[in-house]
Amino acid sequence: MDSSASATDGFSFVIGMTVGGRYLLKRLLGGGSLGVVFEVQDTSDPSSSLAIKLFRLRGDEGDAMRARFLREGTALTKLRCDEIVRVFEVGQCDEHSALFVVSELVEGESLRAYLQRFDRIEPSIMRALVADLLAALTTVHAAGLVHRDIKPENIILVHTEGRPRAKLLDFALIPRSIDASVGLSNPGSFAGTLAYASPEQLRGVAIVRPSSDLWSLGVVIYEMCMGELPWDRGDSSETIEAILRGPVVSLHAIDGTMCEVVRRCLVRTAEDRAQTAPELARLSSAQGSANSLAKRDLRAPLALALMVLALAGWLVMCARQ
Ligand SMILES: Nc1ncnc2c1ncn2[C@@H]1O[C@H](COP(=O)(O)OP(=O)(O)OP(=O)(O)O)[C@@H](O)[C@H]1O
Ligand SMILES: [Mg+2]
Repeated sequence: MDSSASATDGFSFVIGMTVGGRYLLKRLLGGGSLGVVFEVQDTSDPSSSLAIKLFRLRGDEGDAMRARFLREGTALTKLRCDEIVRVFEVGQCDEHSALFVVSELVEGESLRAYLQRFDRIEPSIMRALVADLLAALTTVHAAGLVHRDIKPENIILVHTEGRPRAKLLDFALIPRSIDASVGLSNPGSFAGTLAYASPEQLRGVAIVRPSSDLWSLGVVIYEMCMGELPWDRGDSSETIEAILRGPVVSLHAIDGTMCEVVRRCLVRTAEDRAQTAPELARLSSAQGSANSLAKRDLRAPLALALMVLALAGWLVMCARQ
């Protein structure tokens, strides 16, 4: 990958440059529609290894948007949760037309990469990942925040204790512009995110509530279970139309444990949808234990039936001799 990220608008970064007065750019990690991510070293601590996401300013942000970025970003620095990538600092560097977020550097793979590697996710791993994400959202929402961009690219998996653990990153601190009535006003920045956006996000409501994140999580779980998106029409406008008014998707192929969780997430009317992450966590653990109880309940009668069959076979053999 090229080791620099540059453009004519001042948004230009190369390895070796120091950003925000103390973050030395060491390695380009990747880039999305809104900016680029580098591994950095905090120059006050040569052993440090962090990540910085640099958001390109479009020029139409205005003071209110910058203020919101800094206010919400500062709130993120206060979150302490193993399932959320730790944010250390947010700031702006006007000379490069950028806003930035400095966070923990996570050595892992995105859920997107993981989904591309495996056709099917083990139900026990799936339940554990969903539990991680619900724990993350419980913390986010309890702090009065909404993530607003839950999608496989913004979930990073780290392998510990023999299983992948999910960590949430990349909160939508910069709004993506969309006007569903006339199509996308900034399609580039919404591509990849669109399929996970809640109906109210697509309608452009002013305040997005926690239940919007639960819709997006429902889309992610659906994709993990089915290997495809619930409403993907290829074309952006058609996908928006399908999410807002398309046929209700069938959930019958989804394992019982997750089916009810997805059903409670993918309700178009926000007020009728699951409202909190803890209620979904209770639902999925209750479903999980109901399933394992059902399995356990089946085990004893099955063993008895096998014993009866074996005994009957033995009796038949004895009678023939
Ligand atoms: N804290 C981090 N630690 C390690 N890798 C990171 C970190 N933050 C982001 N990355 C990686 O950097 C890459 C680019 O992330 P970025 O958020 O810019 O892209 P995206 O999520 O695909 O698109 P966008 O968020 O713009 O819609 C991704 O591969 C992501 O996994
Ligand atoms: Mg991202």
